[in-house]
This record gives sequence, C-alpha cells and structure tokens, in this order.
Amino acid sequence: MELFEQKFYESMSSKVALLNRITYYIVNRKGKQMRPMFVFLTAKMLNQGEVAERTYTGASIIELIHTASLVHDDVVDESYKRRGFFSINALWKNKIAVLVGDYLFSKGLLVSLEKGDYDLLQIISDSVKSMSEGELLQIEKARLLDITEEVYYDIIRQKTATLIAACCSMGAASVRPNSEEVGIFRKFGELCGMAFQIKDDLFDYGTEQIGKPTGIDIKEQKMTLPLIYALNRSDKANRKWLINSIKNHNKDKKRVKEVIAYVKEMGGLDYAVSKMMEFKDEALEILNNYPNSDYKAALTLMVNYVVDRKK
Ligand code: IPE
Ligand code: IPE
Ligand code: MG
Ligand code: MG
Ligand code: MG
Repeated sequence: MELFEQKFYESMSSKVALLNRITYYIVNRKGKQMRPMFVFLTAKMLNQGEVAERTYTGASIIELIHTASLVHDDVVDESYKRRGFFSINALWKNKIAVLVGDYLFSKGLLVSLEKGDYDLLQIISDSVKSMSEGELLQIEKARLLDITEEVYYDIIRQKTATLIAACCSMGAASVRPNSEEVGIFRKFGELCGMAFQIKDDLFDYGTEQIGKPTGIDIKEQKMTLPLIYALNRSDKANRKWLINSIKNHNKDKKRVKEVIAYVKEMGGLDYAVSKMMEFKDEALEILNNYPNSDYKAALTLMVNYVVDRKK
C-alpha cells in the first residue's frame, strides 16, 4: 500500500499550481482505500501471493476514478463534508470541483493507456459509464418517488457495485489476463459492492461520526432500502404521510427525524441489514471454490469488513 500511495500521488501531478494544491489536499485526507486493497488481494489470491506491475496500475486507476466520483458526488448531493473535513465543493465551490473531478477521471483513463493495458481500460470504462447511469437513474427516481426494491438494486449496482466489481476483475486480469477468473471476480466484487452501498445507506440513518454528513439522503429525496421497505409495509394513511414528508418536508429537520424514527419502527434497518448479509454471504460462497491460503483469508476479512466497518 505504501508503494501504491506513492504511485497514486504521482499519477495526479499537474503543472497547474491550483490543481496541485487541490490534489495535495485530497491525498492528505485519504479514505479507507478499500478499493485498491480489493485489487491487490484478488491478484494475490489468484497468483500465490505475487502481484504484477499491472496490479499497481489497476489500483491507481480505480482510486483515481473513485476519488473523481466522490468529488462530483459531493457537488451533486450538495454535501460539504468528506473524510472528516470540508469537501472540495465546500472549499473551492462547484465550478472548481467539477473541473477537478474531470481531471481525475481523465487521469484515471490515461494511466491505463500508459503501458497499453487496454483490457484494464475496457474494464474501467464500462464501470465509469455505469456509474453515470446509476447516478442519473437515482435522480430520476428521486423526482418521481416511485422506487421499488428492484430499482434500488439497479441503482446501487450501477453507481457503486460496478466499481468494486472493476477492482476485483482488474486484480484478476492483472495477473491472469483473459482468464475465466476475470468474470468470476467481477461478480464477486459486484456482490461485495451491493453489500457496501447498503451499509453506506444504513449509515445515513445513524448518528455515528462517519466523516461525512448523516441524514442527508432523505433531504436529497433519495429513497434507500430501509425507507422502501417501510413504505411497502405501511397502510394507506402512513404511506401518504411518508411520501408527503419526502416530497414537501424533506428539508424540515424535525420531520426528517420523525421519518427516520418511523422507518426504524417498521423494521426498515433490520431488513436492510438482512439483505446486506445475503449479498455478503453470496460473495463469500464464490471464495469457497478456491483453496485456502493467507491471501484468501485476507480477502475474506475484507468482505467481512464491508459489513462490519464503523465508517
Ligand atoms: C464512499 O466510498 C462512496 C460510496 C460509494 C458509498 P468509501 O466509503 O469507500 O469512501 P472513502 O474512500 O473510504 O472515503
Ligand atoms: C455513492 O453514493 C456515491 C458514488 C457512487 C460516488 P452516496 O452519495 O451515498 O455516497 P456518499 O454517502 O456521499 O459517500
Ligand atoms: Mg453523496
Ligand atoms: Mg450521491
Ligand atoms: Mg451515502
């Protein structure tokens, strides 16, 4: 990870001083770095503990694209806190945040071209396309307030799970190009990614310090699994109250608190936890087909961390 961090920072450098100041700010507030860890651990598990130069390339591509998506996401969500400090849009405003996000996106794609790793470029391009579609589908549904559980899964698969799918398929492709493992680990990463976003959506219903705001999903009219479940289980009057709260009182703090309390009472959080565990278990089943090793044990720990993490 130390070597990765060095390469990652170098891959961001620019001759524009303003940009360098911002990327310096970004690397000093690094996140959990789960995605590069997924890249390395998948590669190690499939290659007796050895990674390739291409594994580092894959990890840098992913973290660049992930960082870009967070910078843009905070503009879209009007969120002013990220990783325990001010978001880029909070400090430099939307104009600069949009452009810095674009820069990081293009850098991510360019890194894959530096040594002609077209297979990695294909994997990441597919997921960047999906992420944009997922974010837009989410906005479309937030406006209509007619989301079903199935549509929720489509949204989180596209906006979040495809990038974690890309981590694991790139990890596989970096050491076993064109093998069956590339597809198998894409699926494995996707399942981890589904559990990952359900966990993130659960955080939003909590009051723990997670380094970013909580309670903002309802404010943004984002209907996530706990709310969808509560809606489906409500009688007509309560449904009406819920929809009206989200449509017309989503910026009213007291009302949002009441909605959160109601969702909890209806068992929305417990249901989301049970679904998250199903995705996690399905991911672990894929690992069952591989012989035990230290690397498989480490990857198993990562999968459990997705659902047990505190931020
Ligand atoms: C946040 O991802 C964005 C989502 C897809 C929910 P992480 O929680 O992995 O963010 P960092 O990189 O650790 O800050
Ligand atoms: C995931 O959704 C965002 C991306 C895929 C970039 P959120 O909007 O819930 O992510 P956070 O909670 O702001 O990190
Ligand atoms: Mg957000
Ligand atoms: Mg968002
Ligand atoms: Mg979130």
